[in-house]
Amino acid sequence: MFPLPSSSEHRRWTVASVQNRYNLLEREGEDVLQYCSAHGIPFIPWFPLQRGRLGSDPSLSKIAIRRGVTPHQVALAWLLQKSPVVLPIPGTLSEQHLKENLAATDLRLDPDEIRSLDAMVNHGVNAPP
Ligand SMILES: NC(=O)c1ccc[n+]([C@@H]2O[C@H](COP(=O)([O-])OP(=O)(O)OC[C@H]3O[C@@H](n4cnc5c(N)ncnc54)[C@H](OP(=O)(O)O)[C@@H]3O)[C@@H](O)[C@H]2O)c1
Repeated sequence: MFPLPSSSEHRRWTVASVQNRYNLLEREGEDVLQYCSAHGIPFIPWFPLQRGRLGSDPSLSKIAIRRGVTPHQVALAWLLQKSPVVLPIPGTLSEQHLKENLAATDLRLDPDEIRSLDAMVNHGVNAPP
């Protein structure tokens, strides 16, 4: 995990990009993501789909059903709308999933949907082991 640098460290380093664990259910890297956004540093979320185990949170399912997409597509759209520096590379062995993941780039979540997804971790939804 890339730690948040101190201001003196920031002056000494040039960071090309960061890859930290970050997805809808695992937000420990939020401060580093904010730092990357503020400094224009590409941020590659490691396990962008939580290894495919997003679970069945009601907020996530509701949005997916209403939009006619999968929960994984909602999770990718949420990541992409977090910041322009976020560059998810979801892993898949499935051509169908690859197509769905590419289509997620066209899904625009509205502010209410973003708020309810942001709140998922605050409501005690945790990543499965
Ligand atoms: N820095 C590190 O140490 C580190 C470690 C691990 C991973 N990573 C990075 O994380 C990224 C991907 O990691 P990852 O592949 O392990 O995890 P991931 O992208 O979070 O999840 C991949 C899993 O999600 C499933 N999946 C993908 N698209 C799906 C869809 N549309 N619907 C349902 N399931 C879907 C895949 O199954 P199917 O094959 O069935 O689609 C696979 O099991 C890469 O950028 C990688 O470099 C970094």
